[in-house]
Amino acid sequence: MRLLIGVLLLALAFAQGHQVHAKDPTLTISFGVVDKVYSATGLLARKDAADVTIEHDIAYKKPMTYRAVPLLDLLGDIDNAPFDTLEARATDGFVSQIPISLARKAREGGAIPWVAIDTAKNPWPNLPGRSYSPGPFFLVWQHAEKSGVGPEQWPYALAQLSGVASPLQRWPQMAVAASLPADAAERRGAESYIKHCLSCHRLNGAGEGDMGPDLDKPMDATEYMTPVGLRRLIRDPASVRTWPTQVMQGFDTSVLPDSELEDLIAYLTYIARK
Ligand code: HEC
Repeated sequence: MRLLIGVLLLALAFAQGHQVHAKDPTLTISFGVVDKVYSATGLLARKDAADVTIEHDIAYKKPMTYRAVPLLDLLGDIDNAPFDTLEARATDGFVSQIPISLARKAREGGAIPWVAIDTAKNPWPNLPGRSYSPGPFFLVWQHAEKSGVGPEQWPYALAQLSGVASPLQRWPQMAVAASLPADAAERRGAESYIKHCLSCHRLNGAGEGDMGPDLDKPMDATEYMTPVGLRRLIRDPASVRTWPTQVMQGFDTSVLPDSELEDLIAYLTYIARK
């Protein structure tokens, strides 16, 4: 009997070990009629996989070299696609809405987007101060500064990329009135919200992110935070509140200039009144 249990345990251990070994993460791309599911090993075996050095890596905050595949190769025909936005869904509740025009700039000398793939042989280190790496898939940008790519446009723990309509079309509750002038601060603020905040914070239900709270419902952030407190929180959350599992990172003036911060506040105030 004892021998039998021993053999069973051994078989179980072997099965589990085998399972871990066989684990091959997948990335789903929904950018046409049928969804394509790519495995990490499949992506690494592609002819267009290359070693890419990212000088200003947003996650590690130092230069990094990744094995990666060009995003534009994976998407295919972006010029005749019936959508203008790439929704990047991570496994941790982060869902970024990236304009396809940003990726298209790669062809005209702008920032080049790559899907980096963590390799089992040479796994990526944990992120500074965190107990996880940005793997298994991480959307990175070469020369990000050339196209003004924002930090929330580098989704890590990526699981799915989908072609979708723009956030303002999909969620009219977050759009500003058509009667507002083209150069209204509130209009610019909406774009800024989409770029920097929507990936984590829904707004009156708009958005897909689940990492942080909705900033408009049940009560709009501008209604219970003072203007000074709100500005400070956006710049440096830890200067307002601090605790060990705090998630949100601050947005400094290099990412969000003062004028853009004011546009964002004007927009949030406008949405609160709406
Ligand atoms: C990576 C995800 C992420 C991004 C991007 C992000 N936040 Fe946050 N935010 C959070 C989380 C999570 C919290 C809850 C506190 C925490 O854990 O840090 C939070 C808290 C807040 C709060 C406090 C809400 C409350 O009632 O306590 C405000 C206000 C806020 N964020 C505004 C913003 C604005 C404005 C932006 C864009 C400029 C932004 N956040 C971008 C994740 C994010």
